[in-house]
Amino acid sequence: MSHAPLVLGIESTCDETGVALVRGLDLLADVTASSMDDHARFGGIVPEVASRAHLEAFGPTLEAALEQADVELEDVDAIAVAAGPGLSGSLAVGVASAKALALGLGVPLHGVNHVIGHVAVDALVHGPFPERFLGLVVSGGHSSLLRVGNIATDVVELGQTLDDAAGEAFDKVGRLLGLPYPGGPHVDRAATEGDPAAFAFPRGLSRPKDLQLHPYDFSFSGLKTAVARVVEGFEDRGEEVPVADVAASFSEAVADVLVTKTLRACELNEVSTVVVGGGFSANSRLRGLAAERFEAAGIELRIPPIRYCTDNGAMIAALGSAVVEAGLPASPLDFTIDSQMPLVQVVMGAAEAAA
Ligand code: KG4
Ligand code: ZN
Repeated sequence: MSHAPLVLGIESTCDETGVALVRGLDLLADVTASSMDDHARFGGIVPEVASRAHLEAFGPTLEAALEQADVELEDVDAIAVAAGPGLSGSLAVGVASAKALALGLGVPLHGVNHVIGHVAVDALVHGPFPERFLGLVVSGGHSSLLRVGNIATDVVELGQTLDDAAGEAFDKVGRLLGLPYPGGPHVDRAATEGDPAAFAFPRGLSRPKDLQLHPYDFSFSGLKTAVARVVEGFEDRGEEVPVADVAASFSEAVADVLVTKTLRACELNEVSTVVVGGGFSANSRLRGLAAERFEAAGIELRIPPIRYCTDNGAMIAALGSAVVEAGLPASPLDFTIDSQMPLVQVVMGAAEAAA
């Protein structure tokens, strides 16, 4: 067991209340409460419902994490909390709770970036990061390519989606195909039964001119529209929609673009390791295609197990641990949440404190 500081991580950016404890890269506890079931019948996250659920879940989740790690609250040396990006009401619950705890315990508080946490968590699973690597964060809210040196101090956003995120596109296609919300996992499952070459769906921002202007950006809305046209065509003709073939061809297009652009980014940035994170990295076609093509290209691919890809406290504790190790100062206790926190900003600093 390492003697690194005990860091408490708190996550509340969307519908998951996560609390975790780490020492260095040792994960001691990771407890998550989800309010997804409360949203499913609305077909999307209801922010008001999510914040109320965080309020109710925070205390019990914290207690459970302390018990799992077999530590007392007083043993905590530092606290990290996701300060953004995310839903304001949800963020406010986690950040207010974290500030109260930090003040009560007299320990430093670090407001950290949720999306960078999706990359940071992999160090708990696969060990220390190399000196330079790329992070591909794919979720319901993000599809971003990051170039990372020290994850606490040196993160550059190379590109992102110009419209829908990968998971969001899957959820929309799930709806078009009449599958339950959230559609991502259902489309993924349907795709395994279909023919990925049944429909030639477009690869967004992949033409030579687009590659020049947007080497690292993604776009999935044109693809979604192409899927809608195909589905409508079948419906208009009174024919049954070939759900599995549409799902497979759509999944292939998304995975192909993500893998091709990331491999190209490796070449352009001379890095040989990619860390993938975010809930969409559960996607089986992305995992399969990435494993195949990264190996062929001699690029190391690190994807944590699915439970660490969806939102959780461990990712925030992991980033907090890196921030503590890098010796960064605590965030001022009057920092404000930032629902649009930019991806180059790892921590909340003095500039983000309320005037
Ligand atoms: O990271 P996450 O748990 O939440 C945020 O968006 O922050 O990601 C959830 C997203 C949803 O859009 C969900 O439908 C999608 O990831 N997703 C999947 C799969 N599992 C989750 N999409 C495609 N295939 C999957 N297996
Ligand atoms: Zn997330």
